[in-house]
Amino acid sequence: MEIDKLQAEIKKLCAEKNALLLAHNYQRDEIQEIADITGDSLALSMEAARTDKDVIVFCGVHFMAESAAILAPEKTVLLPREDAGCPMADMVTAEGLRQLKAEHPRATVVTYVNSTAAVKAESDICCTSSNAVNVAKSLDAEELLLVPDRNLGRYIAKHIETPCIYWEGYCPTHDRMTVDDVRRAKQEHPDALFMAHPECTPEVLELADHICSTSGMYEFARQTSAEKIIVGTEMGILYRLRKENPDKEFILASKALVCPNMKLTTLEDVLRSLQTMEPRITVSNEVRVRAKQALDRMLAVPRD
Ligand code: 13P
Ligand code: SF4
Repeated sequence: MEIDKLQAEIKKLCAEKNALLLAHNYQRDEIQEIADITGDSLALSMEAARTDKDVIVFCGVHFMAESAAILAPEKTVLLPREDAGCPMADMVTAEGLRQLKAEHPRATVVTYVNSTAAVKAESDICCTSSNAVNVAKSLDAEELLLVPDRNLGRYIAKHIETPCIYWEGYCPTHDRMTVDDVRRAKQEHPDALFMAHPECTPEVLELADHICSTSGMYEFARQTSAEKIIVGTEMGILYRLRKENPDKEFILASKALVCPNMKLTTLEDVLRSLQTMEPRITVSNEVRVRAKQALDRMLAVPRD
């Protein structure tokens, strides 16, 4: 089927099934184009909890659909590609985290939302790339155990006094970007600013003019007077950046900034998922209640 016919069919089925179509900022352009809402991982899960629709079609990766199922257990949550996982989320297991907690019984566990529900359930509080430093500052902790992203962990640690222990996980997509990639882009575009996601390595972040979450990047791009911006995150973000800022130029810092998992979901997958109402993502009640506590504690932290 042609792209516009597929898109029209999906919208028709969404209306028939009372479904909300959510797309993460890294999804394919043609999916972002028809999504009811595009956003970062947590914002989308909160939209899932807020909506009065019965069905959530989550175009993203597994942990995001799980977060929606944790926050909106009464709704049907569909992940059109069940094999769309997040390698970083899979770098830590609940069992592994329990072991590390046993070695550091006095530490407070701060877990990035890019993690499984089972890992969140073992955590004291969650954080996202946009509120991680605020969350860490809000805690009266002796020691912090930062899970699973070592890069986000080290970024947090730079802003606080509390001793930190890091889980050695990382996002393969962001971790691939090198200092040389950024230096090359800066040399080719000396008048550009460089914005980077905190999942990048500390050496890359040293070169950044602005460090923020994907949603923060839309805001920065809108507000800055710079006309050229080098982008240090997954290439899917370019769709909205270019659409919302037609007079500005966006340069991807490295061709390697493609998350294969975020690119798995196609329009055909979304259509099939709405037709079959599969694959559904659920979280057992036992895990859900504990994971929700960690998410709720994060949501109670005041924003800047
Ligand atoms: P945010 O959209 O929350 O910034 O996360 C980036 C990411 O890598 C999601 O997989
Ligand atoms: Fe996971 Fe990185 Fe892909 Fe996000 S971009 S889904 S953190 S692998």
